[in-house]
Amino acid sequence: MKKTIKMVDLKSQYNEIKDELWQEWEKVFDSMYLMLGPNMKSFEQEFAEYSGAKFGIGVDSGTAALFLALKSMGIGEGDAVLVPSFTFFATIEAVIETGALPIMIDIDENDFTVSVSKIREYFKNNSRLSDGFYVDKNSGRKIKGIIPVHLYGNPVDMKQIKEIAGEYNLKILEDCAQAHGAEFGGSKAGSMGDMGAFSFYFSKNLSALGEGGIILTDNEKYAEIARKLRVHGQSDKYTHEMVGYNSRLDELQAVILRLKLKRLEDWNNNRIKAAEYYNEKLKEFPLILPKKSNKGKHVYHLFVIRSEKRDELFKFLKENGVEVGIHYPIPSHLQPALDYLGYKKGSLPVTEKVSKEILTLPMHPHLKTEDIDYIYEVFKRFFG
Ligand SMILES: Cc1ncc(COP(=O)(O)O)c(C=O)c1O
Repeated sequence: MKKTIKMVDLKSQYNEIKDELWQEWEKVFDSMYLMLGPNMKSFEQEFAEYSGAKFGIGVDSGTAALFLALKSMGIGEGDAVLVPSFTFFATIEAVIETGALPIMIDIDENDFTVSVSKIREYFKNNSRLSDGFYVDKNSGRKIKGIIPVHLYGNPVDMKQIKEIAGEYNLKILEDCAQAHGAEFGGSKAGSMGDMGAFSFYFSKNLSALGEGGIILTDNEKYAEIARKLRVHGQSDKYTHEMVGYNSRLDELQAVILRLKLKRLEDWNNNRIKAAEYYNEKLKEFPLILPKKSNKGKHVYHLFVIRSEKRDELFKFLKENGVEVGIHYPIPSHLQPALDYLGYKKGSLPVTEKVSKEILTLPMHPHLKTEDIDYIYEVFKRFFG
């Protein structure tokens, strides 16, 4: 019998927190303290503590978190930042919005994270200035930072990224939009670089019922700047120390996030169990299944497989009621908006190859083994 298997299941999350949520919201409505209030402040502390960072700065999206973190570290006009092309476009946008240039690097085919050997290759062709920064010979920009993206919930090898950052004088901003609770070498995502940026977009492992984001850092100076930038550069009401932005995490979302944070470990463990079950069931088919790092904890924001028959599979699964996706079909360096940067087809071959083969299967903390059994049967029919 045909079933529908959803990609994400927000209703089940809501049902778990519903009673407490309305009680807590009632208190917010009674006080009408809607912005920069006690729930946001508590959530900032709770999430920073959970992730092993000193400071948390709640903002209104993951894109804003990336952008404001870069600004807080002083990255902008005249600078360049290394980024993978294989990410959601927001990673690249945040760099461009600061005035810096994104230099896009290819990925490692095994785990889809930025390739350390390609970064080293890039630096071989560029030289160091007397102030300690390397300069990108094509653009003349100073290379100030790197954004490793823990894509799909799979942690980047931060040991190697830190070594590179030390050697080449780079600030590290971790893009943790898909990696709440992911770990590398025992440390959580967002606690290993100079700063970390998270999204609470509705489909994320920790999600608001609307928009939200947070910046994490151990650096007090960066935290202070980020806190000012999110509210028009204010130090006190109507004293603007810098030109900033409007990017606040509101109280209603903070209430949701506090309640969901208490469940995040359990929900991530459910995802890991579902991924293990998928791997067991799907291993008989000619597919490339997600690789798990033995040094890290993958939290399976997305369960992404690879197949040379991706487009046929996509269609067949959809026709049979399985919601599927492609994250992401067009690599960032080939997006029309970035034509002006001069990347061409073939510039980043691994990224381009992988983007034609990837397929995202349903994954969420309430996915049942029966759902995966059903998906398995559909695969079985497809492969005959
Ligand atoms: C890797 C990555 N970076 C950044 C973002 C941007 O987050 P937001 O949608 O909250 O602005 C997202 C999510 O959408 C993402 O997946």
